[in-house]
Amino acid sequence: MSVQESCKDSVQCHNTPSQTAPAAHASAVVGLQWGDEGKGKIVDLLAQDHDAVVRYNGGANAGHSVVVNKKRYALHLVPSGILYPGKHAIVANGVVIDPAKIIQEIDQLEEAGIDTSGLVLSSRAHVVLPYHKLEDQARETLLAGKTTEQGDASIGTTKRGIGPCYAEKIQRAAAVRMGDLLRPEVLKERVARACTLHRTELGSDLDDKAIVADALAQGEKLSARIQDTTYLLHDLVASGKKLLFEGANATMLDVDHGTYPYVTSSSTTALGIGPGTGIPTRHISRTVGVIKAYSTRVGHGPMLTELDNEIGEQIRTIGNEFGTTTGRPRRVGWLDLVAVKYAAMISGVSELALTLLDVLAGFDELLVCTGYRYQGNVIDRFLPDASDLAEAEPIYETLPGFSQDITACRQMNELPAEALRYIERVESFVGVRVGLIGVGPGREQTIRRDAQAGSTL
Ligand code: IMP
Repeated sequence: MSVQESCKDSVQCHNTPSQTAPAAHASAVVGLQWGDEGKGKIVDLLAQDHDAVVRYNGGANAGHSVVVNKKRYALHLVPSGILYPGKHAIVANGVVIDPAKIIQEIDQLEEAGIDTSGLVLSSRAHVVLPYHKLEDQARETLLAGKTTEQGDASIGTTKRGIGPCYAEKIQRAAAVRMGDLLRPEVLKERVARACTLHRTELGSDLDDKAIVADALAQGEKLSARIQDTTYLLHDLVASGKKLLFEGANATMLDVDHGTYPYVTSSSTTALGIGPGTGIPTRHISRTVGVIKAYSTRVGHGPMLTELDNEIGEQIRTIGNEFGTTTGRPRRVGWLDLVAVKYAAMISGVSELALTLLDVLAGFDELLVCTGYRYQGNVIDRFLPDASDLAEAEPIYETLPGFSQDITACRQMNELPAEALRYIERVESFVGVRVGLIGVGPGREQTIRRDAQAGSTL
């Protein structure tokens, strides 16, 4: 029997076409490189035109910094939309939450006078517990002692317990979700089970009672924020509210589409929004892919355009390329357009945001990678498997540099001709328009190419 037939005789049918939700205008912001592209600032900017900002993947491994009124906010778990009063800031089910870290972040925001009442946490988001962090550290230390052709065998993780927590989620039996922090009996059972399992791996003394006591106290503190975010998001969609999905980490770190195994453990592209929130991606009408004007990477794995020289050092210093989460110096290189084009394809981006263009001022020439030499051939397709990628060599195109400080530019016509040429080359290679250009860390230091009178964007 079809749905319509089964409803024929009932008084109320909830499946009639007239009751389908209105088309929502959701947007997404995703990183197209190895993270740290300046997504936080773009999300912060777009948040003005949205009612809710939603995190769907990753955890405290991500670090978004946003500068408002010369004050810098480093956010790891809380969506950047929190800096606008009255917006919903939703951490959906696909995120792994370290309760101690999120409480610390909430406290810091409140001390700075930021209203955090819009922050909601999914009851089905998984909880990062102490043994996940211990396991992350133990594995990395063990692997660091094993050498391979590329160096040691570790991934170079942030040691925030992200991989072990996602592994626990997939293993199921001992996993803890945010909702379990409010169910003492379930929590006790799960943590005891997890400790038994992890003790054999870690060989350490895990005090399950202490872990449960801490987790219950954290749950109590967060209880008012723990909800079913899937229904909340669908209710917002149904009432015509605009959602903004904020991707953490970036495409090259995606567990399926990134440079595996040197990736994080979640779906970092726009494709992760469905499973990570319960919202179908057909609602998304605008996907902004964020790229910085050069490349950076933290952690291990191939990066073909890496600059292990003075130019790299200069870019690192000017761009302040040190990790928001770990403080590690980031590896720096020229822009890899082959990688960016692949990443734009995976997320179906409708627009690019080119950030940190100001950092490139002062170089005589700027190189962009437009192809790879691989096994004797010239190719223009990305090689997402780290072993394949490590075998390739970059083919560069040289563009003229610009010497002018562009940090005060607010319109396209204020940019030097060489900077415009750089932007045009990005667009022509990737096949997607650059709509936003970052010329400094401040909210106002963004050129909004399509800005119209009366509109924020
Ligand atoms: P994990 O996410 O801590 O497991 O780390 C896996 C890899 O992803 C490491 O190379 C990290 O440095 C990298 N990574 C994770 N999150 C970010 C991020 O937000 N920005 C840059 N790199 C990241």
